[in-house]
Amino acid sequence: MTTFSEQESEKLPKHVAIIMDGNGRWARSRGKPRIFGHRNGVKNVRSVVNAAREFNVPYITLYAFSTENQNRPEDEKSGLMRLLEEFLRRELASMLKDGIRLRAIGDLSGLPQFAQKIVEESIEKTKHNNSWNLTLALNYGSRQEVLNGIHSFAKNILTTGEIPENLDWRTFSNHLETKDLPDPDLIIRTSGEFRLSNFLLLQAAYAEIFVSPLHWPDFNREAFIEALKNYIGRERRFGQTSDQLSHSSPTLISNKKL
Ligand code: FPP
Repeated sequence: MTTFSEQESEKLPKHVAIIMDGNGRWARSRGKPRIFGHRNGVKNVRSVVNAAREFNVPYITLYAFSTENQNRPEDEKSGLMRLLEEFLRRELASMLKDGIRLRAIGDLSGLPQFAQKIVEESIEKTKHNNSWNLTLALNYGSRQEVLNGIHSFAKNILTTGEIPENLDWRTFSNHLETKDLPDPDLIIRTSGEFRLSNFLLLQAAYAEIFVSPLHWPDFNREAFIEALKNYIGRERRFGQTSDQLSHSSPTLISNKKL
């Protein structure tokens, strides 16, 4: 049983976002079709969400389907959507019991009707939960999200006469789909790839990035703990010097939408 000291616990991230990569390679290495990897990847979601609760990480965001994933073969896409549906049907009762609020970011209208429906229903049914937060990025792409934010802000200018120069990051971030979430402190990517793949590009400005060599279906509780340990060993300076940090309150600096 791994525990963190009180001092370490204070440094744990509030928001961990995960790029779940490597399902296809995991399946191929076992001589199985890609969907077998995705199926085992979904099984893993529960254990990582449980580990997040165990270590008091209130926000988890998972990159489940990118806008670019729309270019995958139809049978893989529909298989993924069926897995998403099964996952939400199976997990709803425990999300309600455990106080987990589900959110989604991305263009849900680009999902098949049945998937859109179950996602929206699950969001609605869990909207009063406030202990834990699970956000699924579905048909999500950061550039599109930013463009949508700019459109929304521009409409505001036209209707309210707001002055464009008054736009600062805080105001703009309210036009992003993540407006109800703190910025991610830690982004984990599995499968040894060092890139963000159009995921939370602006929100990740000060995120620490951890790359695990494991494919997503193998990324278990222990791997999650390893990522947390690695994270708490880092010094997050947010552009300041180490000396400045040791003289200021870490709570003033961290978890703020800088
Ligand atoms: C990346 O592996 C994974 C995806 C594109 C989909 C991730 C989706 C799931 C784990 C299932 C749905 C999620 C939920 C929360 C129900 P890849 O196919 O790109 O792997 P590869 O790079 O090895 O080919």
